[in-house]
Parts: sequence; C-alpha cells; structure tokens
Amino acid sequence: MIRVPDIIIAIDGYSSTGKSTFAKAIANAMDFLYLDSGALYRAVTLHALENGIIDAEGTIDETALRAALPGLEVHFGRDEDGLCKTYIGGRCVEKEIRSLAVSSHVSPVSAFAFVRNFVDDRLHAFGAAGRVVMDGRDIGTTVFPEAEVKIFLTADEQVRAQRRFDEMVAKGESPKFEDVLENLRQRDWTDAHRDVSPLRRADDAYILDNTEMSIPDELVWVRGLIQGKFGILE
Ligand code: DC
Repeated sequence: MIRVPDIIIAIDGYSSTGKSTFAKAIANAMDFLYLDSGALYRAVTLHALENGIIDAEGTIDETALRAALPGLEVHFGRDEDGLCKTYIGGRCVEKEIRSLAVSSHVSPVSAFAFVRNFVDDRLHAFGAAGRVVMDGRDIGTTVFPEAEVKIFLTADEQVRAQRRFDEMVAKGESPKFEDVLENLRQRDWTDAHRDVSPLRRADDAYILDNTEMSIPDELVWVRGLIQGKFGILE
C-alpha cells in the first residue's frame, strides 16, 4: 500500500464505466473512505417511486418531491458483513436502488437543483475530513472542484451495457440487453444535457479509457498517477 496524503479523489464519467468498482478498489488499496454519490440520487428516486411522487407515466410531482426531502434520512452504513450500504432511515435499500425502475427515473430526478443541493450537502459533510474517494458525474466540477486528483472514466458503449447487463443478471434479474443499452444512452444524454451541473470532464481531470483494462491495470495506472503527482517513491 502506498502512503497517500489526506486528499480527495474525484471519479466522474458516463454510466457503467466502472466508476464504483474502481473507486472501491482505490479505497481498499489506499485505505480511503468510498462515497457513492449516485446512490444518494438513487435513494431519493426510490423514495419518490415508493411514495407516488413519480406516477406510472414517469411524471415527477416537483412540489411533493421538494416537500419530501427535508424529512428524508438517507445515509451510508455498514451491514452485518461490514460492507458499506445505502440506508433510508433504518432500512437498507442497496438492492432496490439498483433496479431498472430506479435507473429509468434517476436522471430526471437528479436534474432538479434542489435535489442536487440536498445530495451535495450530504457529500460535503461526509467528505470534509479528506481521505475519500467519491464517484459521480459532477464531483470534480461542482461538488469538490478542489479535489487533488480528478479522473474522468470512459469506455466503449457496448462494453458498458454488457457490464451493466451482467451485473443485473448476477443479481437474479432478467433484463433485455437492448433495454439496458437504451437506458444507458438515455441517462448519458440527460446527465450531459441538464442545466444544473451537467456531466462533463473537469479541465484538470485525467482521462482513463478502461474498455480493455482490468481493475488491477487501473490500480497500477492510478498508483503511478498519485506517485508522480505527490513525488512518492515506493
Ligand atoms: O452512478 P449511478 O449510475 O449510480 O448514478 C445514478 C444517476 O444519478 C445518474 O444517472 C445521474 C445521477 N448522478 C448525478 O447526476 N450526479 C452524480 N454526482 C452522481 C449521479
């Protein structure tokens, strides 16, 4: 393990580029706290779906959503295996927030400025002490523009859809590949075109295309980056 200073590592990129897998691997290798910003947007979306704030046509009741947020207690905790999970109140919602229903509605929910403020407040509180690796769409541009290391992940679209598809099948779901691909395209488009902090690469972010890379390859790459940046000889 290399000795890394108390920095913030921001990982942004398109859907299913492997941001969370990469961020978790960094957290393990460098003893950092991993924060999944997308999980907070997903938890807000799950809450909205379960409480009729999003109707069957997908229309979001903005007033009801705005009213629901102050009372929504979303946080990260650990389950009995010690793994970090997303909770709403005392309920672990880790599985539910990854469903296709949530994936299909999360982009428009995350486009509201008041939803972004709600999530950003929580991320700032979690990240205040440093030594965190955080993944999302706007971490390096908006949430922590002062992050010392910024990485923008990309990968081939078909490869990304296949990764997402395999992940869902492994969880016992039976999605259609075309639906997964379409959801991914739509999310990328909505995320990159919204008015409030759209997905984009920060000017000072390093680009990593991991289409043909394994996680160990990615760790070697990020180690080299950090060692070079902070002059760590190890
Ligand atoms: O990373 P993910 O797929 O779990 O993110 C779910 C959605 O949340 C994504 O489609 C866009 C939104 N999101 C965002 O707008 N900003 C972030 N920092 C993280 C996620």
